[in-house]
Amino acid sequence: MKFFIDSANLEEIKSAAAFGIVDGVTTNPSLVSKEGSQESFEDLVKEICDIVKGPVSAEVLSTEYSEMISEGRKLAGIDENIVVKLPMTEDGVKATKTLSDEGINVNVTLVFSPSQALLAAKAGAAYVSPFVGRLDDVSSSGMDLVLDICEVYAHYAYETEILVASVRHPMHIVEAAKMGADVATFPYRVFTQLFKHPLTDIGLERFLKDWGKK
Ligand code: E4P
Repeated sequence: MKFFIDSANLEEIKSAAAFGIVDGVTTNPSLVSKEGSQESFEDLVKEICDIVKGPVSAEVLSTEYSEMISEGRKLAGIDENIVVKLPMTEDGVKATKTLSDEGINVNVTLVFSPSQALLAAKAGAAYVSPFVGRLDDVSSSGMDLVLDICEVYAHYAYETEILVASVRHPMHIVEAAKMGADVATFPYRVFTQLFKHPLTDIGLERFLKDWGKK
Protein backbone atom coordinates (compact mmCIF):
# COMPACT_ATOMS: atom_id res chain seq x y z
CA MET A 1 0.00 0.00 0.00
CA LYS A 2 1.26 3.47 -0.86
CA PHE A 3 1.30 6.20 1.78
CA PHE A 4 0.62 9.78 0.70
CA ILE A 5 0.76 12.75 3.05
CA ASP A 6 -2.33 14.94 2.87
CA SER A 7 -0.77 18.34 3.52
CA ALA A 8 0.56 21.55 2.01
CA ASN A 9 2.77 22.25 5.02
CA LEU A 10 6.42 22.00 3.96
CA GLU A 11 7.70 21.21 7.46
CA GLU A 12 5.21 18.38 7.91
CA ILE A 13 5.98 17.01 4.45
CA LYS A 14 9.75 17.16 5.14
CA SER A 15 9.35 15.41 8.51
CA ALA A 16 7.22 12.64 7.02
CA ALA A 17 9.50 12.25 3.97
CA ALA A 18 12.52 11.80 6.26
CA PHE A 19 11.22 8.34 7.21
CA GLY A 20 11.67 7.21 3.60
CA ILE A 21 8.28 5.52 3.49
CA VAL A 22 6.16 8.31 2.03
CA ASP A 23 5.25 7.71 -1.60
CA GLY A 24 3.46 10.93 -2.52
CA VAL A 25 1.50 13.99 -1.41
CA THR A 26 -2.04 15.24 -1.88
CA THR A 27 -3.08 18.86 -1.51
CA ASN A 28 -6.39 20.63 -1.90
CA PRO A 29 -7.40 24.31 -1.96
CA SER A 30 -8.32 24.27 1.75
CA LEU A 31 -4.95 22.80 2.77
CA VAL A 32 -3.03 25.28 0.60
CA SER A 33 -4.99 28.26 1.80
CA LYS A 34 -4.54 27.19 5.45
CA GLU A 35 -0.78 27.62 5.01
CA GLY A 36 -1.17 31.30 4.06
CA SER A 37 2.09 30.94 2.12
CA GLN A 38 3.63 34.08 0.60
CA GLU A 39 4.83 32.14 -2.44
CA SER A 40 2.60 31.31 -5.39
CA PHE A 41 0.65 28.05 -5.51
CA GLU A 42 2.88 26.89 -8.38
CA ASP A 43 6.07 27.57 -6.38
CA LEU A 44 4.67 25.81 -3.32
CA VAL A 45 3.73 22.74 -5.35
CA LYS A 46 7.16 22.72 -6.99
CA GLU A 47 8.80 22.78 -3.55
CA ILE A 48 6.66 19.81 -2.50
CA CYS A 49 7.74 17.94 -5.65
CA ASP A 50 11.37 18.60 -4.76
CA ILE A 51 10.87 17.06 -1.29
CA VAL A 52 8.87 13.95 -2.22
CA LYS A 53 9.85 12.19 -5.42
CA GLY A 54 6.44 10.71 -6.08
CA PRO A 55 2.98 11.75 -7.23
CA VAL A 56 1.92 15.18 -5.94
CA SER A 57 -1.74 16.07 -6.44
CA ALA A 58 -2.49 19.72 -7.24
CA GLU A 59 -6.13 20.70 -7.60
CA VAL A 60 -7.62 22.99 -10.23
CA LEU A 61 -9.91 25.80 -9.11
CA SER A 62 -11.83 26.07 -12.39
CA THR A 63 -15.18 24.35 -12.64
CA GLU A 64 -15.71 24.72 -16.38
CA TYR A 65 -14.30 22.18 -18.86
CA SER A 66 -12.07 24.34 -21.09
CA GLU A 67 -10.70 26.28 -18.09
CA MET A 68 -9.99 23.00 -16.27
CA ILE A 69 -8.03 21.84 -19.30
CA SER A 70 -5.81 24.90 -19.50
CA GLU A 71 -5.33 25.03 -15.72
CA GLY A 72 -4.60 21.29 -15.64
CA ARG A 73 -2.02 21.54 -18.43
CA LYS A 74 -0.34 24.44 -16.64
CA LEU A 75 -0.18 22.50 -13.36
CA ALA A 76 1.14 19.41 -15.15
CA GLY A 77 3.97 21.55 -16.55
CA ILE A 78 5.29 22.34 -13.07
CA ASP A 79 6.90 18.92 -12.54
CA GLU A 80 6.79 15.45 -14.04
CA ASN A 81 5.28 14.08 -10.79
CA ILE A 82 2.28 16.41 -10.74
CA VAL A 83 -1.10 14.72 -10.69
CA VAL A 84 -3.90 17.09 -11.68
CA LYS A 85 -6.77 16.89 -9.25
CA LEU A 86 -10.20 17.39 -10.78
CA PRO A 87 -13.59 17.35 -9.07
CA MET A 88 -16.18 14.66 -9.77
CA THR A 89 -18.51 16.75 -11.89
CA GLU A 90 -19.66 16.39 -15.50
CA ASP A 91 -17.04 18.90 -16.63
CA GLY A 92 -14.48 17.23 -14.37
CA VAL A 93 -15.05 13.81 -15.92
CA LYS A 94 -14.84 15.27 -19.45
CA ALA A 95 -11.61 17.03 -18.51
CA THR A 96 -10.29 13.82 -16.93
CA LYS A 97 -10.74 12.01 -20.23
CA THR A 98 -9.06 14.80 -22.24
CA LEU A 99 -6.08 15.23 -19.93
CA SER A 100 -5.62 11.48 -19.42
CA ASP A 101 -5.59 10.98 -23.19
CA GLU A 102 -2.77 13.55 -23.31
CA GLY A 103 -0.77 11.46 -20.84
CA ILE A 104 -1.44 13.71 -17.83
CA ASN A 105 -2.19 11.85 -14.60
CA VAL A 106 -5.51 12.86 -13.05
CA ASN A 107 -6.84 12.31 -9.54
CA VAL A 108 -10.63 12.54 -9.45
CA THR A 109 -11.57 14.01 -6.10
CA LEU A 110 -14.76 14.38 -4.04
CA VAL A 111 -15.95 10.86 -4.82
CA PHE A 112 -18.81 9.65 -2.65
CA SER A 113 -20.41 6.80 -4.60
CA PRO A 114 -19.42 3.68 -6.58
CA SER A 115 -21.06 5.11 -9.72
CA GLN A 116 -18.80 8.16 -9.52
CA ALA A 117 -15.78 5.87 -9.10
CA LEU A 118 -16.84 3.93 -12.18
CA LEU A 119 -17.03 7.16 -14.20
CA ALA A 120 -13.54 8.19 -13.05
CA ALA A 121 -12.12 4.83 -14.16
CA LYS A 122 -13.94 4.96 -17.50
CA ALA A 123 -12.44 8.43 -18.10
CA GLY A 124 -8.93 7.06 -17.52
CA ALA A 125 -8.15 8.67 -14.15
CA ALA A 126 -4.87 7.60 -12.59
CA TYR A 127 -6.46 7.88 -9.13
CA VAL A 128 -9.94 7.95 -7.67
CA SER A 129 -10.36 9.57 -4.26
CA PRO A 130 -13.24 8.32 -2.10
CA PHE A 131 -13.62 10.63 0.92
CA VAL A 132 -14.16 8.25 3.83
CA GLY A 133 -14.11 10.69 6.75
CA ARG A 134 -16.64 13.05 5.23
CA LEU A 135 -19.03 10.13 4.66
CA ASP A 136 -18.56 8.99 8.26
CA ASP A 137 -19.32 12.58 9.30
CA VAL A 138 -22.82 12.27 7.80
CA SER A 139 -23.53 8.84 9.32
CA SER A 140 -22.71 6.90 6.17
CA SER A 141 -19.91 4.33 6.06
CA GLY A 142 -16.86 5.64 4.22
CA MET A 143 -15.17 2.24 4.33
CA ASP A 144 -18.22 0.56 2.77
CA LEU A 145 -17.71 2.86 -0.21
CA VAL A 146 -14.07 1.78 -0.52
CA LEU A 147 -15.15 -1.88 -0.37
CA ASP A 148 -17.72 -1.26 -3.12
CA ILE A 149 -15.14 0.44 -5.35
CA CYS A 150 -12.64 -2.41 -4.79
CA GLU A 151 -15.35 -4.91 -5.74
CA VAL A 152 -16.36 -3.03 -8.90
CA TYR A 153 -12.79 -2.41 -10.08
CA ALA A 154 -11.82 -6.06 -9.45
CA HIS A 155 -14.04 -7.14 -12.35
CA TYR A 156 -12.21 -5.01 -14.91
CA ALA A 157 -8.74 -4.04 -16.05
CA TYR A 158 -8.93 -0.35 -15.14
CA GLU A 159 -5.59 1.15 -14.23
CA THR A 160 -7.19 3.64 -11.86
CA GLU A 161 -5.74 3.36 -8.36
CA ILE A 162 -8.02 3.65 -5.34
CA LEU A 163 -6.71 6.51 -3.19
CA VAL A 164 -8.49 6.54 0.15
CA ALA A 165 -8.84 10.19 1.22
CA SER A 166 -10.36 12.19 4.05
CA VAL A 167 -8.72 9.79 6.47
CA ARG A 168 -9.28 10.68 10.11
CA HIS A 169 -7.53 7.91 12.09
CA PRO A 170 -5.26 4.84 11.77
CA MET A 171 -8.17 2.36 11.51
CA HIS A 172 -9.24 3.97 8.23
CA ILE A 173 -5.79 3.06 6.90
CA VAL A 174 -5.81 -0.47 8.34
CA GLU A 175 -9.26 -1.17 6.93
CA ALA A 176 -8.28 0.27 3.55
CA ALA A 177 -5.19 -1.97 3.51
CA LYS A 178 -7.29 -5.04 4.38
CA MET A 179 -9.52 -4.21 1.41
CA GLY A 180 -6.51 -3.90 -0.86
CA ALA A 181 -6.87 -0.18 -1.62
CA ASP A 182 -3.80 1.04 -3.52
CA VAL A 183 -3.13 4.25 -1.60
CA ALA A 184 -4.15 6.03 1.58
CA THR A 185 -3.56 9.75 2.01
CA PHE A 186 -3.61 11.10 5.52
CA PRO A 187 -2.58 14.11 7.60
CA TYR A 188 0.81 14.17 9.36
CA ARG A 189 -1.01 13.76 12.70
CA VAL A 190 -2.43 10.41 11.57
CA PHE A 191 0.99 9.38 10.21
CA THR A 192 2.48 9.78 13.70
CA GLN A 193 -0.47 7.90 15.26
CA LEU A 194 0.36 4.85 13.12
CA PHE A 195 3.55 4.28 15.14
CA LYS A 196 1.97 4.28 18.55
CA HIS A 197 1.00 1.44 20.86
CA PRO A 198 1.14 1.71 24.67
CA LEU A 199 2.50 -1.85 24.98
CA THR A 200 5.46 -0.89 22.80
CA ASP A 201 6.31 1.97 25.19
CA ILE A 202 5.81 -0.21 28.28
CA GLY A 203 7.81 -3.07 26.74
CA LEU A 204 10.72 -0.84 25.77
CA GLU A 205 10.80 0.78 29.19
CA ARG A 206 10.87 -2.67 30.83
CA PHE A 207 13.67 -3.95 28.60
CA LEU A 208 15.82 -0.92 29.36
CA LYS A 209 15.04 -1.14 33.09
CA ASP A 210 15.83 -4.88 33.22
CA TRP A 211 19.09 -4.33 31.34
CA GLY A 212 20.04 -1.64 33.84
CA LYS A 213 19.57 -4.16 36.69
CA LYS A 214 22.42 -6.36 35.51
C1 E4P B 1 -7.22 14.58 -0.30
O1 E4P B 1 -7.01 14.35 -1.46
C2 E4P B 1 -8.48 15.20 0.16
O2 E4P B 1 -8.64 16.47 -0.37
C3 E4P B 1 -8.48 15.23 1.66
O3 E4P B 1 -8.12 13.97 2.14
C4 E4P B 1 -9.79 15.70 2.25
O4 E4P B 1 -9.73 15.53 3.64
P1 E4P B 1 -10.77 16.22 4.66
O5 E4P B 1 -12.10 15.59 4.46
O6 E4P B 1 -10.19 15.94 6.00
O7 E4P B 1 -10.79 17.69 4.32
